[in-house]
Amino acid sequence: MAGRIPQEFLDQLLSRVDLVEVINTRVPLRRAGHDFMACCPFHAEKTPSFSVSPRKQFYHCFGCGAHGNAIGFLMAYERLEFLDAVEDLARLASLEMPKISGDDSGLSHTLLEWLIQASRYFHQQLREHPTRQQAVDYLQRRGLTGQIANVFGIGYAPPGWDTLSRTLRQRGATPEQIMSAGLASRDEQNRLRDRFRDRIIFPIRDHRGRVIAFGGRALDGGVNPKYLNSPETLLFHKKSELYGLYEARTRIRHLQRLVVVEGYMDVVALAQHDIPYAVATLGTATSTEHIERLFRVVTDLVFCFDGDAAGRAAGWRALEVALPFLRDGRQIGFLFLPEGEDPDSLVRREGRAAFEQRLEQATSLADYLFAELRARANPGTLAGRARLAELARPLLEKLPEGHFRDLMTLRLQQEAQLVNTRLRPPARSSRPADSNAQLTRTPLRKAIALLLYRPELAQQAMLDDNPLLRDSQEPGMRLLADLVATLRASPKLTAAALLERYRGTREGAILEQLAQWRLEAPEEEYRFEEEFTDILDYLRRRADPAKQWLETLLQRGTPSALSKEEREVLRNFGQSRKVQ
Ligand code: UTP
Ligand code: MN
Repeated sequence: MAGRIPQEFLDQLLSRVDLVEVINTRVPLRRAGHDFMACCPFHAEKTPSFSVSPRKQFYHCFGCGAHGNAIGFLMAYERLEFLDAVEDLARLASLEMPKISGDDSGLSHTLLEWLIQASRYFHQQLREHPTRQQAVDYLQRRGLTGQIANVFGIGYAPPGWDTLSRTLRQRGATPEQIMSAGLASRDEQNRLRDRFRDRIIFPIRDHRGRVIAFGGRALDGGVNPKYLNSPETLLFHKKSELYGLYEARTRIRHLQRLVVVEGYMDVVALAQHDIPYAVATLGTATSTEHIERLFRVVTDLVFCFDGDAAGRAAGWRALEVALPFLRDGRQIGFLFLPEGEDPDSLVRREGRAAFEQRLEQATSLADYLFAELRARANPGTLAGRARLAELARPLLEKLPEGHFRDLMTLRLQQEAQLVNTRLRPPARSSRPADSNAQLTRTPLRKAIALLLYRPELAQQAMLDDNPLLRDSQEPGMRLLADLVATLRASPKLTAAALLERYRGTREGAILEQLAQWRLEAPEEEYRFEEEFTDILDYLRRRADPAKQWLETLLQRGTPSALSKEEREVLRNFGQSRKVQ
């Protein structure tokens, strides 16, 4: 969905819902001083290190580092997309979702309605149309039962130029709506022509189960194209959708693994053989959006490609796209099928157990990566090994920090037998339990951390038009100034709401870390105001007003433009410089 949710709405939402309540209904919390604790739902542990701050409306795990506000919690725990998490919270808070800017939601709604009708129509034709038998026979020949056809809502678009368009027109759809839904186009005589004719229909559902597009397969081998998809529409962006993902999510409660295949029929045939966790890209290469979406649902992916050159190229492309998402705990396998086979043909021939065996034995990403580089670099020679290191470096640099990256770096050293080269040493090998260690405690950062603890600090009088905040170009100071300005405009914001404004930005990443800082003293004894004022004082002294004043003098130009006193100061300053 395009557009953004207005900031005011997110502020209001986060001030209405209580994070403690949101979490407590899913993970029972225990009070511990000012905060609440539980065993972390995001990693396995026996002693609680998951802490929830009612004041900050922020959670943080000291064990695995997971953290966020109510929106982030729902995204992580329920594996929701941002908008869905917001929508769920809005329901909880009895707030109506705002109309999104650049609003298409009225039109989307109408199109969704016609798409549902179309999908019912296709499904019905499979049962009723006079020529239905050839479609039914086709599906049977491909080994599908009625039950699986129902799970995927498979249908039949009968022959004829405009059977669907006419039906929808009779029910009140306008030609423009039918075309915007991707169901028809106009011919030279300006007549509506159905896009899908005489084809088996696969409805494409989005992550909420709404039909947003269709794929259609020709019944006859000679027809070109064999598969036809809906065009890109307001609702359908084929490079971010995955066929079968909704079906897999609803059929398996705790999905562990997803297999990514190339075709509609592969997904359906695997489901038919009791492997209901396959998804397919829709005739496009694996995209960043695909990977993000998949890793939101599972930690374990297997990419399944043809063994031919095209399949290999697609596999490598998937690897490159996935590298930045390989946080610790996530894994990717690659399964290249024997020549001439696809998952559909293979599972039909070998059955479920053998296919799952292949999945178990899929090549790990690390093995695949190095095998491919060895093939390209010829590491039998010294030059070849140097080349291998050269090829590997940019790839490994795409990996996020963590054990996996460290291991890959070590592996590269072995593969290239280059122990003492310019390779960067592995990053720190374990995540510090104390998150305070992650960012050095500078006074400026501490001031920001205090502001996140006590947003009301922003109201202090000494911040009124404070030159420090007004004039400094230092990024950290700009961030502090920004936060102060925001809090002065909306004094009721919680730390969680503040953080929400920076979601996905570099500042946001810093703020998230600062929000986890622990105080050196118990919260009830902590003198927030004093501490905050002291830091700002210090920062002002550090900024050295004398120096800044000199700057201004110098900028004013010729000495004659200066007063006598000013010239004096300038002269003295010059001398003291020489002495230093
Ligand atoms: P394949 O040509 O590998 O066919 O297309 P398949 O999946 O094995 O299909 P069957 O078994 O012959 O029915 C793989 C995928 O590529 C896209 C479709 O998404 C298809 O599922 N494709 C293929 C098209 O979009 N158009 C085409 O003409 C062919
Ligand atoms: Mn096939």
